[in-house]
Order: sequence, then C-alpha cells, then structure tokens
Amino acid sequence: MSTVLVTGGTGYIASHAVVTLIEQGFTPVLFDNLSNSKSLVVDRIEAITGVRPRFVEGDLSNIGLLESVFAEFKIDSVIHFAGLKAVGESVREAQRYYANNVAGTLALTQVMAAADCYSLVFSSSATVYGDPETVPITEDMPLSATNPYGRSKLMVEQILSDLAVSNENWRIALLRYFNPVGAHESGLIGEDPNGIPNNLLPYIAQVAVGKLECLSVFGGDYQTVDGTGVRDYIHVVDLVEAHVKALSALAPEHGCQAYNLGTGQGYSVLEVIKAFEQASGVEIPYKIVERRAGDIRASYASPENTASKLGWRARYDLAAMMRDHWCWQQRNPQGYEA
Ligand code: NAD
Ligand code: UFG
Repeated sequence: MSTVLVTGGTGYIASHAVVTLIEQGFTPVLFDNLSNSKSLVVDRIEAITGVRPRFVEGDLSNIGLLESVFAEFKIDSVIHFAGLKAVGESVREAQRYYANNVAGTLALTQVMAAADCYSLVFSSSATVYGDPETVPITEDMPLSATNPYGRSKLMVEQILSDLAVSNENWRIALLRYFNPVGAHESGLIGEDPNGIPNNLLPYIAQVAVGKLECLSVFGGDYQTVDGTGVRDYIHVVDLVEAHVKALSALAPEHGCQAYNLGTGQGYSVLEVIKAFEQASGVEIPYKIVERRAGDIRASYASPENTASKLGWRARYDLAAMMRDHWCWQQRNPQGYEA
C-alpha cells in the first residue's frame, strides 16, 4: 500500500483528496499548520470513510519535523496542497506569500530528496495563464502573473521544472486548477473561507443561508454571453480524482509536466447564479457593480491533454456542483465552527 504525504491536508481541496485516496487504497498522512483550516476535518474524514488518517500539525518551514515525518511514515509520494491563496491578501502581504508558498515548497523538496522520495503532485492554478489571448486554454500557452499569489505559483512551477532537469529521479505533475467548487456529497466536508469570501460560490452560498445580504456581480460589460465574467467551474470531487490519476502517471521518464484541470466548459456569473437558484430553490439577490481590478473576461480549459495523458475527464455538471455546494452550506451554515 502506498503512503502519500498530503501537505495542507485539512484544507478544502486536500480533505476531499484524502477521502478519495483512502477509498482507493492509499494511506494518506496529513500535514497542516491549521492556518486556514480546522482539525475537526479529520473527524469528518473519518465519518465519511471509516478510517482515521494520521495527522501531523506543523509548518513546511519546520524542516526537522518534515524529516521526522518522512522517516516515521516511509512516504512514497507527496501531494502538495499547502499554500496561501488569497489574491488581494498576497498584494498586501507579499513577503508572507513568497515565504510560505515558494520557500515552503523549496523546504519540502529538499526534505523529499534527502529521503529519496521524488514523486510530487503540485497544486498549481490557471492563474499562471494570466489574461489569456484565446480560450480554451492549452498547457503550452504563454505564462504570466499579475499578483504575488500568481507569481508564487509560477515561480514554484519553474523551480520544479528546473529540479526535474537537474535530477532525472524527479517525477512531477503540475496541476493547473481552474475554479474548484462543490463539496463531498455527504455535506460533511466543504469550503469554509475565513471572513467575507473572495470567491463566487462561497459568496453565493452565504447569501443563500442569510449570512450575507446581496451578491455584487463584478462587471456587466465584458464581451461575453451576458456581459459577466466566464469561468470553468469544476467539481472538487472530479478535481481530486485527477490527483490520483496523476500519482499513477508518475512513472520513470515522466519528468515535470503540466496538466489543466477544468471541464472545458465556461459559465458566466449570471448562469452560475441561475443554476444555484435552481439547485437550492433560494433566490439570490444581486446587483451589477464595477469590474474587480485584475479580473479577466473569460477563462476555460482545454481538457484534451489531460484526458489523453492521464485518462481523466470531469464527470459532474454545473447542476451537481451547485447541489453539492448547497448541501454543504445548508448542513454547515457557520462552516466548521458550529
Ligand atoms: P485551503 O486554504 O483550504 O488549503 C490549504 C491548506 O494549507 C490550509 O489547510 C492551510 O492551513 C495549509 N497551509 C498553508 N500554508 C501552510 C504551511 N506553510 N505549512 C503547512 N500547512 C499550510 O485552500 P484550497 O482551496 O484547498 O487550496 C489548496 C491548494 O490549491 C493551494 O495551494 C491553492 O493555492 C491551490 N489552488 C486553489 C484554488 C481554489 O480556487 N481553491 C485554485 C487554484 C489553486
Ligand atoms: N465574482 C463576482 N462577485 C463575487 C466574486 C466573484 O461577480 O463576489 C465573479 C468574478 O468577477 C469572476 C467570477 O465571479 O468573473 C469568478 O470569481 P472567483 O473570485 O470565484 O474566481 P477567479 O476566477 O477570479 O479566481 C480563482 C481563484 C484564483 C485563481 C483563479 C484561477 O480565486 O486564486 O481562480 O484558478 F488564481
């Protein structure tokens, strides 16, 4: 049985990955500093799977602790989710973002190499495509970033690509997520952002439960189907299944390769609101306001490279994403706090 270190293991996406890993016979070991998640997540994972995964509370900068984790658990591979992810915050706290996301990853890879563990799946982002000239986006399109968060992802991609050139033992998958949404069908785990949500789905869901009053739609004058921004929303359960496929693809000669994780289908903000209303039966009050600085018109993936190389395609449609996101929010109106 293969043991997988899951950094950021109690976070939104990682917690879903841990469920899938357990269901598929892997032994995940969770590592998280709880800076943006709760240890209660471990209980919820146990409630879903019947298995209580090992959890180590710690920070990536603690090299001694990381070394002891590799020694104790005999780690075969790593899925590296740990990172800070709020774009606006990254502008205000650039030092912290680079230290956490870039230096944290360097520390991790240093400990991995010392432990003779060279298989790594990294959580990257479609943000590395900047403002794409055309859609759908393919992996070979030009890369750029407009804020410290995006640059930290781009830097880590470049570092990992250089590592793979420097030592052919490395087998690295860079997974570029589009817009992860939804939750496990049980409603026991899901996204629980701190404070006022930055992202569309958590905002809509908190309006639906009455925590927030009204959604601001950022911009109604884009060149899109209805003037609002278009994104490729992907169900988190689909997303994490691709991670398991990527782990299996990390054979010799893999080197460092990038894979888009999206459905290939873009939806506008107004289309998402409508789908959420249909799934929940709750009307979402909204108003169209100014564009948000740094936002782009449209972003959606070409999923073809990932389909042919990893044998993976997203299965869930927008209605299922909305249903499951709503189920989580309804069962946990205060997130994990309650
Ligand atoms: P999340 O905040 O829920 O999970 C990240 C976890 O990492 C948190 O539990 C946090 O406590 C932990 N963490 C952060 N820094 C750490 C450190 N130095 N040491 C140990 N633990 C640390 O976020 P998420 O949405 O699950 O995102 C997971 C990854 O996917 C991140 O790297 C993020 O940048 C990337 N990503 C997310 C999205 C998205 O929209 N959610 C899109 C693209 C990429
Ligand atoms: N939006 C609103 N109102 C809101 C929030 C969002 O109208 O309150 C709109 C945005 O303008 C955009 C769409 O909804 O058109 C999606 O916005 P999100 O903030 O949910 O997602 P983004 O595509 O802007 O960014 C997300 C992550 C980034 C990541 C990027 C690419 O937040 O970290 O996807 O993966 F880099």
